[in-house]
Amino acid sequence: MRLLRTIAGLQTYLESRGEGITVGFVPTMGALHKGHASLIERAAAETDLVIVSIFVNPLQFNPAEDLSKYPRALQADCQLCEDWRVEIVFAPAPEEMGMVTHASTAAFADTTTVLPPVAMTECLCGAFRPGHFQGVATIVTKLFEIVKPHVSYFGEKDWQQLAIIRALVKDLNLGVEIRGCPTVREISGLAYSSRNQYLTPEEKGRATRIYRGLQKAQEAFLHGETNSAGLIAIVERELQQDRGFKVQYVQLVHPETLEPLPDIGVAGGVLAVAVYVGSTRLIDNLFLRQRQFIIAIDGPAGAGKSTVTRLVARELGLMYLDTGAMYRALTWLVLRSGIHVDDEIAIAELVSLSRIELIPGQDETDPTTVKINGEDVTLAIRTPEVTKSVSPVSAQKCVRRVLVKQQRQLGQGGGIVMEGRDIGTNVFPEAELKIFLTASVSERAKRRSRDLIAQGRQNIRLEQLEKDIQSRDEFDSHRPLAPLKKAFDAIEVNTDGLTVAEVTAKIVSLYQQRHQLLSPKTSP
Ligand code: PAJ
Repeated sequence: MRLLRTIAGLQTYLESRGEGITVGFVPTMGALHKGHASLIERAAAETDLVIVSIFVNPLQFNPAEDLSKYPRALQADCQLCEDWRVEIVFAPAPEEMGMVTHASTAAFADTTTVLPPVAMTECLCGAFRPGHFQGVATIVTKLFEIVKPHVSYFGEKDWQQLAIIRALVKDLNLGVEIRGCPTVREISGLAYSSRNQYLTPEEKGRATRIYRGLQKAQEAFLHGETNSAGLIAIVERELQQDRGFKVQYVQLVHPETLEPLPDIGVAGGVLAVAVYVGSTRLIDNLFLRQRQFIIAIDGPAGAGKSTVTRLVARELGLMYLDTGAMYRALTWLVLRSGIHVDDEIAIAELVSLSRIELIPGQDETDPTTVKINGEDVTLAIRTPEVTKSVSPVSAQKCVRRVLVKQQRQLGQGGGIVMEGRDIGTNVFPEAELKIFLTASVSERAKRRSRDLIAQGRQNIRLEQLEKDIQSRDEFDSHRPLAPLKKAFDAIEVNTDGLTVAEVTAKIVSLYQQRHQLLSPKTSP
């Protein structure tokens, strides 16, 4: 781990690391705890180089809030980052970030600021912390510009912040991907927060009531209560039981726009709370949503992913998101447009304006209908001409970017199974069930040899097949486009010695277990 205090130092370091690596960024204000650790752990699993920034941002404190009181523990934080295998801690002084030491939101007049949509910054916490989210948006934009990350991680604990950052990145076309990470809690249910250290042990015990209130509302939601007033009342009733609490708000809002919701609809709703426990202000929330699961199946080539994925989809009545068909559809479009398969710029223009639809068939004999820009291409994408060109077209960065975007759109409502190399880490990092399907090299070589023999090939050398598989694994793990990665929360399933039916049954059973854990309990 290296501690860097200047922008020049950081940028020189990044230049020395060269191109072709993905940078994962976790902005923080220090006083690190397990909540921060979860963001860092995920960044480490999903990107090549992890940068954590530690900067207590004066712009997000208003004059009534005590900036000097915010906990600072740089040495201990650096030690933690060392333990968590962070590559760089970027901890600039306020001056380095262009701020005088005691500047606060009052100093906005002197600096260029970023102004997110007012409706998002003035609701919930924004109503009680004027200028706060403007300060957050400004510093995060500056940090993105300095660090230039590919992916940046934010906690769902601060849902409003996360929603505002997502809007900021979308509205200003900032080239960074934002990933939200679930709230990490103490065993008592209290969400980790740097501010928890202000609580006395007695207050800390009482503060657990906040999450209990949210859980009770969640329980009611899972039993069918979707009305905002009903859900809010449940939380309020719980909080009222502690006379020492000063409740700022309990609200149900849209997860993206943060608009107050009368009812929870398909997009789900965020039930958010801010409460003073003694003199400490605590916030918490729960995202209430009922969607069918997403299953992400990743793993090396030859582990039997595609067969198993199709069977799992059929068994569970989920949609098999056939990425192969999507690549073929785009290839078909490229060929039909008369664009050369190497003309990356023309292809980028063409595919980014296209829209693919996958319409599942009625049963096993009825294949999925594939449409591109409204045209049915189910049969057209299976011609030898498309087969020949699908590889060079799919190898293009832009084609993949467009497809990942469309896959996410198709998966938004849940109910899909998808296989690949980076589905759980990149395409659907929020998938409810992630499987990493592996098999030993020798097992995969045996399977491959059986396939080749079935195709009439002779003189197959197992040793050579094993070598080929090893080098393919090596290539897939380091390829610039969608390298093979195991998500840190994926369940590894080794298929050695198992039949396809056994592997399918295993995944179905993992799905059922997970479903039981996260789904409504029927009323007694
Ligand atoms: P800070 O409060 O230090 O939080 C840094 C990141 O950790 C945020 O994305 C926050 O949501 C996340 N986080 C905090 N507690 C968490 C928990 N219990 N579980 C999961 N994630 C948690 O948020 C900020 O700093 C600042 O506003 C910042 C974005 C750095 C801008 O100054």
